[in-house]
Amino acid sequence: MRTTQPKTIRLSEYTVPAHLVDTVDLRFELFDDGARIHSTLSVRRNPESADAAAPVTLDGDSLKLERVALNGEDLAAENYEETGEQLVIASVPDRFELTVVTWIEPQNNTRLEGLYKSSGMFCTQCEAEGFRCITYFPDRPDVMARYRTRIEADKASCPVLLSNGNAVERGDLENGRHFVTWEDPFPKPSYLFGLVAGDLVEQRDTFTTGSGRDIDLRIYVEPRNAEKCDHALASLKRAMRWDEENYGREYDLDIFMIVAVDDFNMGAMENKGLNIFNSSCVLASQDTATDLAFERIESIVAHEYFHNWSGNRVTCRDWFQLSLKEGFTVFRDSTFSADMGSPTVKRIEDATLLRTAQFAEDAGPMAHPVRPAAYMEISNFYTLTIYEKGAEVVRMIHTLLGPELFRKGSDLYFERHDGQAVTTDDFVKAMEDASGRDLSQFRLWYEQAGTPELMVSDSHDPEQGIYRLTIEQRIPDTPGQTDKKPQHIPFALGLLGPDGEALPLMQDGSADAEGAPVEQVLELTEARHTFEFHGLPSKPVPSLLRHFSAPVRVIYPWSRDQLVFLMSHDPDGFNRWDAGQRLAVDVIQSLVGAAEGAEIEPRLVEAYRALLGDSTLDQALVAKMLQLPSEAYLIELADSPDVAAIHHAREQVLQHLATSLREELIACYHRNSEAGKYELTPESIARRSLRNTALSWLLVINDETGRDLAVQQFRDADNMTDRMGALRALVNSDYAAERSAALEEFYKHFQDDPQVVEQWFSVQASSDRAGQLPQINALLEHSAFDWKNPNKIRSVVGVFAGQNLAAFHNPDGSGYAFLADQVCRLDDSNPQIAARLVTPLTRWKKFAPAYGSLMRESLERIRDKSGLSADLYEVVHKSLG
Ligand code: PHE
Ligand code: ZN
Repeated sequence: MRTTQPKTIRLSEYTVPAHLVDTVDLRFELFDDGARIHSTLSVRRNPESADAAAPVTLDGDSLKLERVALNGEDLAAENYEETGEQLVIASVPDRFELTVVTWIEPQNNTRLEGLYKSSGMFCTQCEAEGFRCITYFPDRPDVMARYRTRIEADKASCPVLLSNGNAVERGDLENGRHFVTWEDPFPKPSYLFGLVAGDLVEQRDTFTTGSGRDIDLRIYVEPRNAEKCDHALASLKRAMRWDEENYGREYDLDIFMIVAVDDFNMGAMENKGLNIFNSSCVLASQDTATDLAFERIESIVAHEYFHNWSGNRVTCRDWFQLSLKEGFTVFRDSTFSADMGSPTVKRIEDATLLRTAQFAEDAGPMAHPVRPAAYMEISNFYTLTIYEKGAEVVRMIHTLLGPELFRKGSDLYFERHDGQAVTTDDFVKAMEDASGRDLSQFRLWYEQAGTPELMVSDSHDPEQGIYRLTIEQRIPDTPGQTDKKPQHIPFALGLLGPDGEALPLMQDGSADAEGAPVEQVLELTEARHTFEFHGLPSKPVPSLLRHFSAPVRVIYPWSRDQLVFLMSHDPDGFNRWDAGQRLAVDVIQSLVGAAEGAEIEPRLVEAYRALLGDSTLDQALVAKMLQLPSEAYLIELADSPDVAAIHHAREQVLQHLATSLREELIACYHRNSEAGKYELTPESIARRSLRNTALSWLLVINDETGRDLAVQQFRDADNMTDRMGALRALVNSDYAAERSAALEEFYKHFQDDPQVVEQWFSVQASSDRAGQLPQINALLEHSAFDWKNPNKIRSVVGVFAGQNLAAFHNPDGSGYAFLADQVCRLDDSNPQIAARLVTPLTRWKKFAPAYGSLMRESLERIRDKSGLSADLYEVVHKSLG
């Protein structure tokens, strides 16, 4: 058992650093059996620090210290103190040069923090606190310095040597070694340091900025991936142009590099001038990546690029401000993706993620505000709340200010804080100053955790022609926070007349219908508001929270008639989709626990029939509307969910729909299969999505025509979306022979491509047919599985626990015990991944007691493991406590 409890770090205890570092001079000697790092810092006392006699304190983790020198003189051991986590030098002058030499073993670094090796190459990951695994340093983002980095390595095994900034010197050394020196002119925090050394090939391009500067663009990959860079490069150029056009932000160095590595804890990292990517988030080809992967890559490339301004030029003062860069940057990449494809579809995807996963997080034991007040292990706070809810908060500011004032605000923010480490409050202040709007109540979005619930009710007075809408807000308690204050919520509204016409919104009885808007953003600031709308002889159907204008739950007693009506008439595409989802949720919920053979709402079948048959509708939206709400979402919506019952009810609805609509599905499949060149346009993506949805529905009912189509599509596909669509459909059918044949064939063909093998693992791990526990255990034994590779772990263990819910929640508790075993095993090699994987178990309080008590037992077993990491300690103790 862990004996010492990790320390809690509190925002309220923030103090400015006692010492500042102006320059960092690094020399990396890279060898097969380790690396020696020589670091020389120019340090000075911070005039703003209250503690004028403070010792110099540097952070370190798993370092072997070889030398400490002050102004070039070696320090004797009695003149400094080395604790497990810090190097402290008590008496120092006001300004001095500090040299530290450390020895580390990247080849044995399985945590993948600091400097480590991935398929033979050296690479770094320093956010949040990885730099201290390389050398002793004041490893906090408000210490910003200029870096010069010399890398020395064997020329044959590491021909390519990269770091931040510009290469200023290179040359040969003795013993077949060589070096390159890099200089980054922009002061940066240590978490943005990056280094790569290995045998890589590059793909080049150039980008000319708005002001006419030519930027050298390069993607570095292992030689076997040379053909998979085009999409990322094209995405990068689109993102660079977009940031100039939409935020007035130009790139600032002469070179921008991206490197792909196979072993990476997260998606990608925005190191200054040297972004390092998880291979799966950058490499793509028509043959190996699905449409979804192409879209994901475009958005992640853009996200990391956008960080150059929102994160690097303006960075975070401390890690409580993480959403300053992440929330804003997700908002930026999400707007970018919307502009590149279908805005409605992008909004649906964002809202789905938020409502399914972020709402669950916000209602669980790890719930925290967008700006947390305390943490033990910062790695645990790279969450959906910081990222996605943080992005929604910025989006609400955009909605409240409108696009022009928002742009004025972001210009002011970048100009005012360029080169600084600042807070979310500074961001809001810039928005206030530029717009003249008071956002003081709005700031509660950063401080209060929990998803606000809006109780909406309405009434109509036919005599006076008045429609009244009452909205009450309530914010549930979360750990450590009760009795919350009402928040400032933008609530977009439209009203529809009996024929689906958009009605003018007149809050004032004497208003003129001509000039009245048909959509309005109501601003909720009180616990309860009533709005009156005049000139309405009959009761309208309200279209509530259009475009998902705030990250809240809306509770309104929709009738099924109203939902069917909105599904076909709402001019807001998002709310059309939402009405369909609500109708499907209502139908599925009414079947949970109902007697076998209960009637399934015919209006749902007819609504889907209409969708399938109407090719005049936006096909990308139709493709989304045909997706039934996921099990995870249904579980999130339920109190004390009985997972097996929910799974069964959803399955029944799916089968009923597929049986009733068989002819339409086959027609839809053929209509969307016309041969043609593979293209990544929204139209052809929508066509592939529709035909693969049709296929999967046909196989849910084990339709023979469907089976033949799937087998043929699997064989003939000229792209991964269709091949994977067919494979997934077969894997989720009862055609066991076809399923194994396809899986085997697929593996044989793609076994040398790790990104495709990950998909092959996932499609099985997520399937209730191919992913029961014995099969999952077999996947872990498979020769392609690798306990050191986070992607492989996620694609089997993570996908099983997060997407194969009926199997994971097997009432015998075997799924929970399995996850606990894997989490314990991983905690010793990679605690960050272990702490992430445990998430499903932490939600034990939500589930029906039969499930919840077994989940808790598994958590307790993890708690009692010896040598528990700080990462896992925090998550497990907070969720048991
Ligand atoms: N800062 C990265 C991003 O969101 C995420 C990340 C965090 C990567 C921590 C690695 C480690 O762009
Ligand atoms: Zn980010």
